[in-house]
Parts: sequence; C-alpha cells; structure tokens
Amino acid sequence: MTTDNRPSISAQLGINPSDLDARKAWNVFTRDNVEVLKDLSQLANDNADEIARKFYDHSFSFPAFVAKIQEAGGTRQGLEAAQSQYFKDLFNGNYDMTYAERRLFVGSLHHRLGISPRYYLGSYIQFYEHLFPIQVKKYSNKADKVVPAIMAFLKITNFDQQLMLEAYTLGFVNEMSDQVADVRQQAVTMETNTEAMGQLATGATEQASNSQEAAGNVQQLGEAISTVSQASETQAKAADGMTSMIEDLKVAISQINTPVESEIQTAETASTTSKKGADVVSQTVEGMDRISASVRDGSDLIGVHGVHRVTALR
Ligand code: HEM
Repeated sequence: MTTDNRPSISAQLGINPSDLDARKAWNVFTRDNVEVLKDLSQLANDNADEIARKFYDHSFSFPAFVAKIQEAGGTRQGLEAAQSQYFKDLFNGNYDMTYAERRLFVGSLHHRLGISPRYYLGSYIQFYEHLFPIQVKKYSNKADKVVPAIMAFLKITNFDQQLMLEAYTLGFVNEMSDQVADVRQQAVTMETNTEAMGQLATGATEQASNSQEAAGNVQQLGEAISTVSQASETQAKAADGMTSMIEDLKVAISQINTPVESEIQTAETASTTSKKGADVVSQTVEGMDRISASVRDGSDLIGVHGVHRVTALR
C-alpha cells in the first residue's frame, strides 16, 4: 500500500518563503549575487544549448547512463532541451517558491528514476567545466568580476542541490514509510487470518464432537432399525397366523352355512351339524381372541418402532 495523497513536497519538508530566506542567508546568497546572475542571463541564454550538448556528450559516453535513459524512455533531444531550460533558469533572478517547487520536483523525479545522488551531483561538474571558461572570457578585461560571477553560480547551484537532495531524501523516507505501512497492513491481515484460523479450529473441534454425537445417533438408529425389523418379522408371523385363522374361519363358516342351506336334511344330521357348528363357533371365538392378541402385539411393536424412530431422527 502506498500513500499517494501526501501533502506537497515543500509542505512535507517545511519549505516556505521564510525558509527560503533562511537558506539564502546561510548560503550567503545575497542581492549582489542575484544581480550578478541576472547580468549573466544573456550569456547563459546564448550558451545554454551548447552547454547542454556538451553535458550529454559526457553523460552519453557512459553505457550505464545510456541504459538508464533507455529504461526511462528518455531521448537525448528531450534531455538537452530540459537541461538547456534548467540552465537558463539558474540566471532568471527570481528564486522564490515557484522556483523552489520546480527544483524539488526535479529532485523527486530523479529519485523516482532511481538515479543516485552521486551521478546527479557529479553532473554539475559539466556546468562548471563549460561555463567558467566562458565567464572568464567575458570578463577578461574586468578581472574583479570573474570571482563574483563564479561564486554567484556556485551559490545558486548549491541552493538547487540542497533542495534536490532534500527531495531525494524525502523520497527515500516516504518509500520506507510506505514499506512500514505495508508490513503493518500485512501484520493486521495475518492477525485477522490467525483469528479466522482460531475460529476454524474451534468449529472443527465442535464438528468433531458433533460427529461423535452423530455417530452415537447412527448407532441408535441402527439399533432402532434392528428392533423395527424384529418387530416387522413378529408382525409378519402374526399376520401369517391371522391369515391361517381367517382361512379356518372361512371353512367353519362354510360348514355352518351348509346345514342351514340344507333344511331338508334329517334332524340327526342337523344335530351333528349343530354340534360341529358349536365347535366351530368356539374355534372362531378363540381365533378372534388370537387375532385380537396379535393385533395388540402388533400395535405394541408399532409403538416401540415409533419411539425408536423419533429417537433416531431427533
Ligand atoms: C546536474 C544534474 C542534473 C540535472 C540538473 C538534471 C535535470 C533534469 C531536468 C530538468 C529534467 C526534466 C524534468 C521534467 O521536467 O520532466 C530531467 C529529466 C531527466 N533526467 Fe536529469 N538531470 C541531471 C542529471 C541526470 C542524470 C545524472 C541522469 C541519469 C543518470 C538523468 C536522467 C534524467 C532522465 C532519465 C530524465 C527524464 C527524461 C525524460 O523523461 O524524457 N539526469 N533532468
């Protein structure tokens, strides 16, 4: 996670107009120095492009520099134009907040491009190499102006270097603070994950004990099924018994009916038949008792079955 909505670079560094005045005082960057630079602005404008070209003749002779420019997608033409403008601005005589903000931006850009300060600062030598001979030549007849011209340029470039280096440093600090924020975020995420894992572990323990309970229930269900199946077997046997009794009844009833339908049969026959009928009725009553007992057994078993089933599904 990066913190993109930071205040401006100048605000983060506490750079404001009064801070700029304090810097200038520390650097002994006086009104006279400003006037000297302004007096040299025409000379600077006239030589800016050539100095920028020589600046990059040197830089592009280093394969590492070329690689860096290619990596950044920059072109020599674009760099020369930017460098020429940068050089001219050094002589514009107006070193206010707008100027400072621009320098801070360039410093921060080079930090983002991954250009280390030693290359950045070392490049200023190119300006000194190519500007100082021009200044000496300009004041060849005014020797007292040479040193102030050189000093003014050293002071303004030092002013720039301070601002750019501070922007560099801020870039490093912000990167580190983003990394710390990332680590903190990861720690929070890990804590949340740990909590979630703890909850999972608790859930798993509960599930394990539920599984044990479920296993107990399954065992009870098995026992219930076995009881029901025994009961069903008993019921089936009882039903078989009832069927055979019903068959007996049918036979008995048909035996009763036969003498009734044969009114013309003899009294003896009737007597015998009556006796038989009495036996059959007695058997029927017994059969009915057995049926009733079987039905009672059956309903008891069904009751047991029902109780077990309720236990099993609960
Ligand atoms: C005295 C030292 C340097 C100064 C004053 C300087 C100045 C500048 C300026 C003013 C820009 C244009 C920024 C913009 O407005 O977009 C720029 C761009 C750039 N500079 Fe420098 N620079 C210096 C040294 C270096 C060095 C040593 C390197 C590489 C090793 C470098 C690589 C670049 C690159 C890659 C760009 C971007 C080019 C583009 O986007 O087209 N600079 N520089």
